[in-house]
Amino acid sequence: MKKSSNAHHKHVKGSLCLIPPLLLAVLFYLQFQTLGFFSSIFPCGAGQSAAAGDYIDRLRASATFLPLKDTREWAEAWFISNVGDTSEPEGEAKNIFFPSPVTDGRLLCLSAPSRRDGTKNAYALAWRDALPDDAELRTGLAYVSETAYDHSNLWHGISALIPFASWHARGVCEGRGRRETTPARWALFHHGEVRLGMSPWLTSLAEATTGVDMVVETFNASYTPVCFEEAVVFRRNMAGMTRERLLAAFDFMRCKARAQCGVVDGGDPSVVNVTILFRTGARAFKDEAAVTRVFQNECARVAGCKLTTARSDNLTFCDQVRLMSGTDVLISSHGAQMTNLVFMERNSSIMEFYPKGWRERAGGGQFVYRWGADRAGMRHEGSWWDPNGEPCPNSPDILSCYKNRQIGHDEAYFAQWAAKVFAANKERKAGLAAGVAASTRQREATTTCCS
Ligand SMILES: *[C@@H]1O[C@H](CO)[C@@H](O)[C@H](O)[C@H]1NC(C)=O
Ligand SMILES: *[C@@H]1O[C@H](CO)[C@@H](O)[C@H](O)[C@H]1NC(C)=O
Ligand SMILES: *[C@@H]1O[C@H](CO)[C@@H](O)[C@H](O)[C@H]1NC(C)=O
Ligand SMILES: *[C@@H]1O[C@H](CO)[C@@H](O)[C@H](O)[C@H]1NC(C)=O
Repeated sequence: MKKSSNAHHKHVKGSLCLIPPLLLAVLFYLQFQTLGFFSSIFPCGAGQSAAAGDYIDRLRASATFLPLKDTREWAEAWFISNVGDTSEPEGEAKNIFFPSPVTDGRLLCLSAPSRRDGTKNAYALAWRDALPDDAELRTGLAYVSETAYDHSNLWHGISALIPFASWHARGVCEGRGRRETTPARWALFHHGEVRLGMSPWLTSLAEATTGVDMVVETFNASYTPVCFEEAVVFRRNMAGMTRERLLAAFDFMRCKARAQCGVVDGGDPSVVNVTILFRTGARAFKDEAAVTRVFQNECARVAGCKLTTARSDNLTFCDQVRLMSGTDVLISSHGAQMTNLVFMERNSSIMEFYPKGWRERAGGGQFVYRWGADRAGMRHEGSWWDPNGEPCPNSPDILSCYKNRQIGHDEAYFAQWAAKVFAANKERKAGLAAGVAASTRQREATTTCCS
């Protein structure tokens, strides 16, 4: 319950003052419940039983609903702002688990009618046997996700998904003796607003990862509180996660997706598979044939190199998993389809392309796949920004005119860049093949955990 802002401090102090009477109430309640048991044997306890009921009613009434989006806080702390989150177990993204000692054993209850305004939705903490009036109890574990980005853009969505993948992976990998980590349902929020699902690619990935269908709690546009028997809340995407946990989570997702799609591991280490993943429309290459030719020529100079071209827009989820699992070098222009890089083997290579204008004006966000490659254990081999194109002199904002332009090519530059990347990749794979023992060990570790 550590808080930074003063206003909050006061608020928290106020809530702290409430704790002793509440605890007292719980003690009374527990005691009277026991007495209640005897009262059925000794009729003289009937009055006390009524008193227990009275205490339960008071506890029930003490559950206070607060706005789910606390506008006094900054974006990553406004969701359930009165409860602090921790990186527990060690190395995980910051989370809150309900019920736990942090919540004094209380469950998370949400009254969330709004899909447009997070301040109209509310949360309360309540003991299981004194839930708010009319509340509906949902059994099992709920994954509650709040993201300042969204659950539809592939890259943004995967940032929200990763902490849950890690949470679930830990349960699977560490096995017996741990609490349930498979979600019975998901509750999705963006700025405290209810969301009804993730995009299909993300849903497929989440389902492959957890091994169960994604059931989304919609709250039915209703004020009726929904209380979760257990809930894990992530509200800051990957913040707090160690690099080791991050890589392990990506390994787990990759392995689960491959298993789901029937991909068999173990390609030929003397092969270098290069894939050009084309886009249609926005940020497509102007001359796909010419681009293919350049990379094909360079590929032909490397023994065992094979070039494949594909188009992301008509590939199913499993098509994408299959294609990327066998890809050593991914060549693609900046866009959501690049998120598929998570299915490549670790240490695979990515070459990225942008239209004119992005380098100067798109800001840090243009590097998401560079960061993404690094997080997932891949090698981003650099980017090419098209230097040619009409200027945008009266462009009111950074990307209004440049954003979705098509991309040209530079044969000489592409050729020498590709030669370098293909050769290095080949060398790395050969080196890896030489250290087979180590890689087999690693594969076994992943497989055990994944199966
Ligand atoms: C959803 O709410 C409506 C009224 O708001 C109600 O009639 C309906 O039964 C509710 N559905 C569920 C599944 O709770
Ligand atoms: C993708 O679309 C192209 C034409 O647009 C078609 O030739 C190809 O068969 C499609 N592939 C799949 C897997 O549907
Ligand atoms: C390369 O791609 C082919 C299919 O085009 C696949 O059969 C093979 O397993 C891939 N090789 C590696 C090392 O992934
Ligand atoms: C990735 O490459 C580095 C060397 O660049 C190597 O140390 C590491 O073991 C490789 N990892 C995997 C999973 O192949």
